[in-house]
Amino acid sequence: METKIKIGLFGFGCVGGGLYEVLNQSKLLNAEIVKICVKSKDKERSIDASHFTFEKDDLLNNSEINTIVELIDDADAAYEIVTTAFRKGKNVVSANKKLIALHLEELIQLSRKHQVSFLYEASTCASIPVIRNLEEYYNNDSLSKIEGICNGTTNYILTQTHAFGKSYEEVLKEAQDLGFAETDPTMDVDGFDSKFKLDILIAHTFGKIVEVGEILNIGIRNIKEEDVNFGREKGLKIKLISRAEKIGDKVICFVAPHFVPEDHFAYNVENEYNCVAIQALFSDKQFFLGKGAGSYPTASAVLSDISALQFDYNYEYKKFKTGGDLEYSNEFYAKVYVGSPYKLTDEIEFVNIEESYSGLEYHYKIGWVKFSSLASVDFNKREDLFISFFSEDVKFEKTKDESRVEALEAAL
Ligand SMILES: NC(=O)c1ccc[n+]([C@@H]2O[C@H](COP(=O)([O-])OP(=O)(O)OC[C@H]3O[C@@H](n4cnc5c(N)ncnc54)[C@H](OP(=O)(O)O)[C@@H]3O)[C@@H](O)[C@H]2O)c1
Repeated sequence: METKIKIGLFGFGCVGGGLYEVLNQSKLLNAEIVKICVKSKDKERSIDASHFTFEKDDLLNNSEINTIVELIDDADAAYEIVTTAFRKGKNVVSANKKLIALHLEELIQLSRKHQVSFLYEASTCASIPVIRNLEEYYNNDSLSKIEGICNGTTNYILTQTHAFGKSYEEVLKEAQDLGFAETDPTMDVDGFDSKFKLDILIAHTFGKIVEVGEILNIGIRNIKEEDVNFGREKGLKIKLISRAEKIGDKVICFVAPHFVPEDHFAYNVENEYNCVAIQALFSDKQFFLGKGAGSYPTASAVLSDISALQFDYNYEYKKFKTGGDLEYSNEFYAKVYVGSPYKLTDEIEFVNIEESYSGLEYHYKIGWVKFSSLASVDFNKREDLFISFFSEDVKFEKTKDESRVEALEAAL
């Protein structure tokens, strides 16, 4: 018999408030919110005060509640809530990518130990049903690549800078005024949010847990008009791409701006939309598109997880059986553009240069770099440098030019 889902809801902000509304409109779901825990005592609420508590134990110790839905904006507090819920034998639904990316292995083990479900579809690209598809439809090891636009704020900024020639600063301010971007936009614009989501996607795509700290995240904070203009002149748009590939027994992954051509899957994905492209051995490329943020789109993914709990659904992590043998690698070569108002020194070690430009006010170089060498430059903190990758495949072998340089050096 179907279990009635009795929910203890943490958070009544953008997503929690949206969930309350979509849950009330959903006729098919055998679920009800028993109590809501929030933080601030003096905030005005859209529903009666009797629904709320400020004490997390009112939910966690309530034996009537069998499901905790965690929708708060504090990853440390969420860790305490979620792990306690597991120990109390309650299923958990969460949208908290930071919490999940930072503690995935531990959270999986703890939820398994206490035989409860732990679902988090909304954590990654909000309304796009990518995790459940990776788990259920692509439940074998035939996937070789997953990449996408996983952050709505940066995609909005990049769309507006390209389409209307506005500066990064101008669009960021606009996005903050419209409520799309946080007052401190670091998590979004420096690529951390995209990295947390990529880390979760890697686990469900390849069955491998990569330490979040291993994944290089370069954001869009230092983009200049000249970089956008360079792209526009060549028919390219800049998109912040989260990218992971399985090549042999290696996994490579990173988040960085990319110049993408018109026939690229991400070219027409604009504003707050997100997308995910999956490369599979037999079905070739497949593409998901949807809203990557917002109250109702995100709540709809949370609702789908709650609905799945009615049928005792849980992720099985089948790919973990083979994914453990994969090795994270940053020893590959990639094609990049580096632009700067200052003449470029040798700080960025190109193994070959395909194009170089030096004008009165702007300079750039395009060529191949050893990816591991990029870690020595903190691009998010370097106002004078903007780096963007190209959509070309990365290479594990040395380029002919680099081999030649090494051979010459050895001969001297
Ligand atoms: N917004 C989106 O589009 C989106 C998309 C995907 C995923 N997410 C994720 O969804 C989660 C919620 O995001 P949001 O945008 O809804 O955040 P939000 O609008 O800032 O709301 C946060 C809510 O959490 C409550 N809260 C904070 N700390 C708490 C604590 N220790 N105990 C109880 N309640 C606490 C706040 O209480 P008060 O009301 O008292 O302040 C508020 O109701 C985050 O993990 C976020 O990354 C959001």
